[in-house]
Amino acid sequence: MATIRLGDTAPDFTAETSEGTLNFYEYLGDSWGILFSHPADFTPVCTTELGTAAKFKEEFDKRNVKMIALSVDPKDSHLKWIEDINETQQTTMNFPIIADADKKVSTLYDMIHPKANDSQTVRSVYIIAPDKTVKLMLTYPASTGRNFYELLRVTDSLQLTAHHKVATPANWKNGEKVVVSPSIPTAEAKKIFVKGVEEIRPYLRLTPDPTT
Ligand code: BEZ
Repeated sequence: MATIRLGDTAPDFTAETSEGTLNFYEYLGDSWGILFSHPADFTPVCTTELGTAAKFKEEFDKRNVKMIALSVDPKDSHLKWIEDINETQQTTMNFPIIADADKKVSTLYDMIHPKANDSQTVRSVYIIAPDKTVKLMLTYPASTGRNFYELLRVTDSLQLTAHHKVATPANWKNGEKVVVSPSIPTAEAKKIFVKGVEEIRPYLRLTPDPTT
């Protein structure tokens, strides 16, 4: 298992899931992807995360992002757990959970951290661009559930900065002012960003979201 770094090509795999056997790249197609791991089936935080993710699917769909979860338990366990998720979180699971009982995918993606637990995955998140490069990695401990609003927010930032020479400031949300990339001189920035460039410092220039 090689360490994955930002910008690396996300490893491909074929795996059993709650929705049948799938190939990761075929599943993603030309979409963005979010691959996120859970320590185990029938655990409380994971149950709330998957229920929340199912409720957020419409928002991820709008952004052309396909979700796929992973837990190191077999498919029959996932299917029973999904009944619980649907019932307790008042939702209907609407994306696959990888059944990684042999830990093939979690090993490939370095999701098992022996200092936390050598048989379960931690809460890893990989956001993958349509060209299959890894754009973001997050690692949370088992005891902290993830914030799916943040995953939407960071997706908005990744998608904006993939197409425009901007970066997004602290706590930025879709539609707010963005930062002009430091590599662009202000005179050039003023030609590119026709809505205006506010120069607070030569290195700190703001411009309205170029997509709005
Ligand atoms: C949970 O998903 O609730 C959980 C899993 C492992 C350790 C702690 C919490």
